[in-house]
Amino acid sequence: MDIRTVGIIGAGQMGNGIAHVFALSGYDVLLTDVNEAALKRAVELVEGNLGRQVTREKISAEDRDAALARIRTTSQLADLGQSDLVIEAATERESVKDAIFAELVPHLKPDTILTSNTSSISITRLASRTDRPEKFMGFHFMNPVPVMSLVELIRGIATDEETYRLLLDVVERLGKTAAVAEDFPAFIVNRVLMPMINEAVYVLYEGVGNVLSIDKAMKLGTNHPMGPLELADFIGLDTCLAIMNVLHDGLADTKYRPCPLLTKYVEAGWLGRKTQRGFYDYR
Ligand code: CAA
Repeated sequence: MDIRTVGIIGAGQMGNGIAHVFALSGYDVLLTDVNEAALKRAVELVEGNLGRQVTREKISAEDRDAALARIRTTSQLADLGQSDLVIEAATERESVKDAIFAELVPHLKPDTILTSNTSSISITRLASRTDRPEKFMGFHFMNPVPVMSLVELIRGIATDEETYRLLLDVVERLGKTAAVAEDFPAFIVNRVLMPMINEAVYVLYEGVGNVLSIDKAMKLGTNHPMGPLELADFIGLDTCLAIMNVLHDGLADTKYRPCPLLTKYVEAGWLGRKTQRGFYDYR
């Protein structure tokens, strides 16, 4: 099977980055979102990010124009029916994802591969509610998608070898590298990253260090590009808390207990960069 047309569901931070890299690698992209304004904003963001790559001489102006010409948008999920590959990158809520798959599946070709960019929800469970668990896989991109070279491929219990091989080829064509994970809570990246971020919040909560000293210690002491609190703001504190809850519930170990200070920030609506306030103030 040759993958040419890629349907992407959700025009948020992840969806627009995924559209960017697929279009730049020569795939025809159909980006969908229920919100027309979000679709318009996503295309503007892709245009801006491609423009930055032209300025930094990573790509040519022709590459940018060709990539932009390959991105179409629609607010109708049914329009994705002819896609060879679908990537769901909608809100990180299981009920939302289930509703999307239930509406989409009757329109799909029988051999379309269905994937989710979920950062922590069980692939096996999402797949089991579709008509094609063997053609379903976790396809987890990192933020910012155009910059980060990793894609985590998560095998559900029923995912077949052909689907895995096809997605490995796609990752290669995107110029990225795959790491394969079995389907257990939060997979590999977030299973390791989120407890570190949560621990940094405990270090703040217990007064071991302040925001600046914690981030400085980890940036300069371990060569991370961002400190853990800055990274938490970048990812979104609500996302960090949701993933800690998946780990805590799914693995039933108190070592994954979300820090009460993280919960308090989320309850305050201080979600990081997207609300202009988190551990740092962006106003
Ligand atoms: N689109 C395209 N290019 C972008 C970009 C975007 N959205 N954001 C940054 N860039 C590019 C810049 O153009 C620049 O390119 P060149 O090197 O070619 O000049 C490069 O990225 C570096 O950007 P900046 O110089 O502006 O900034 P920086 O050096 O501070 O780097 C960063 C920014 C790449 C985000 C870096 O701080 C970093 O790697 N941070 C850690 C990111 C990380 O850990 N991401 C994973 C989060 S976890 C996750 O995503 C999983 C999950 O499920 C939660």
